[in-house]
Amino acid sequence: MLSDGARTRALHGPHRAGWPTAEPATIRMRALDRQTYVWCIGLDDWSAEADRLQRHLDDDETARARVLAGDRERVRFVVAHAALRQILGACCGESADRLRFLRSSPGRPELVGHRVRFNLSYGDGWALVVVSGAAVGVDLERIRPTFPVMRFAERFFLPSEAEHLARVPEPERAELFFRYWTIKEALVKARGTGLADLSCASVRYSSQGPQVPGFWTAAELCPVPGYAAAVVQARPGVSLRCRTWVPGR
Ligand SMILES: CC(C)(COP(=O)(O)OP(=O)(O)OC[C@H]1O[C@@H](n2cnc3c(N)ncnc32)[C@H](O)[C@@H]1OP(=O)(O)O)[C@@H](O)C(=O)NCCC(=O)NCCS
Repeated sequence: MLSDGARTRALHGPHRAGWPTAEPATIRMRALDRQTYVWCIGLDDWSAEADRLQRHLDDDETARARVLAGDRERVRFVVAHAALRQILGACCGESADRLRFLRSSPGRPELVGHRVRFNLSYGDGWALVVVSGAAVGVDLERIRPTFPVMRFAERFFLPSEAEHLARVPEPERAELFFRYWTIKEALVKARGTGLADLSCASVRYSSQGPQVPGFWTAAELCPVPGYAAAVVQARPGVSLRCRTWVPGR
């Protein structure tokens, strides 16, 4: 179930409604009982703010940013992690720089001392942050038309998924591949298990959209033209609200 005019993708292609306009992060924890929120962050839009945003990061994040190759990737990392902190800080009523994260064994970060569940995905200048009251995962990928999709599908997809892909003509095949991929990766991230689990993350398209196993529900999003994105969460019938992030103080 999707709301707020989100750019969501139905089985036969994206709706054309616009991703909602920019707002600072102001979601409160109690809203997460009823809704899941997705924030889209234009990482290159806020590069001029990177020095200020950098102050939210802890020593571990600062060290990770420092070793990234190139200023552009460093700034993108800073903006993505500062945005995550501002969004979570607003939810929890805590200042962004005081939040502490712990990593579970396959690497999923969890917030210390707060029950909000979240996930982050970033790449090629864009990030998505999802916050929820239940386990949740998000993935965002740029659709690369020359990507060797059948080679990857044969390795990581179920036979029924690879056959579906093979039936689709070339120009649309890459897009469908990345739609499958983002749902699978969002499911893996919601479970917190890691990419080794990808081949167990089955996806089936029905007239209700993409179906994933168990109690998980999947939704496809189109936050940016030329990108595929998906959110998977551990609760049915909860609406997704989409926002565009702008930095707060
Ligand atoms: C989690 C994983 C699927 C992310 O894939 P990705 O497409 O490269 O990255 P995304 O941008 O979508 O997501 C990255 C963010 O997801 C979160 N994340 C990391 N590990 C996670 C996990 N196991 N489950 C859920 N979320 C995870 C983090 O916030 C991470 O950003 P950060 O490290 O900068 O904080 C992938 O890195 C993975 O499988 N990791 C598990 C460990 C593993 O198998 N490592 C293999 C290295 S040899």
